[in-house]
Amino acid sequence: MHFASGHTRTVLLIGGVAIKFASLFQPRYWLHGLKRLRLFAQRREVGGRLRHYHPNPLAGGILYYFWGMRSNLLERDIWRDCQHLPLAPTYVSFWGLVNIQRRGTPIQTHELALCPFRDLAQEHPNWSDLHKPEHFCWIGDRICLIDCGGPELGEALRAYRKIPVATGRLRTQTT
Ligand SMILES: Nc1ncnc2c1ncn2[C@@H]1O[C@H](COP(=O)(O)OP(=O)(O)O)[C@@H](O)[C@H]1O
Ligand SMILES: [Mg+2]
Repeated sequence: MHFASGHTRTVLLIGGVAIKFASLFQPRYWLHGLKRLRLFAQRREVGGRLRHYHPNPLAGGILYYFWGMRSNLLERDIWRDCQHLPLAPTYVSFWGLVNIQRRGTPIQTHELALCPFRDLAQEHPNWSDLHKPEHFCWIGDRICLIDCGGPELGEALRAYRKIPVATGRLRTQTT
């Protein structure tokens, strides 16, 4: 059993599951949010950035601070709607506060090239979710995306129709 932490969630990895707790009450998270907000203000980007979270900037401001919950809810919805895609299954979400997801085995850095959604990653070099090896895991014989809580990525995944490339066969070839 061990903990891993992401940008918006703290994850307990135990047995075959990953339990994702929305990082609502961590001072570190709120301080980080305040620092980013100050940076956006300096660049006069506050409205635009908050609209990134929700079309209404006020709702965006609220979600900005509850982003862990939002990520959990999005991940639940995307899995519900896109089970044909190589995503880690989300078994259940408790109001976004806690999600229970199937646990995967971390990939190695050199396996990033085998990960699914490489075409989306190429198209969107700034979508860090698709460029970090820690966001992919082996689940069974294929590599799956385990962090799909970003709204833009979510929309792209809903529109995604292609068959994933990575399989256990490719894994054998590279190790
Ligand atoms: N299903 C999973 N299987 C194995 N490890 C996971 C799983 N989900 C998350 N993790 C680990 O927890 C970390 C944080 O989870 P992540 O979904 O990226 O949260 P955040 O959206 O806050 O960045 C990941 O980088 C990974 O190391
Ligand atoms: Mg992450």
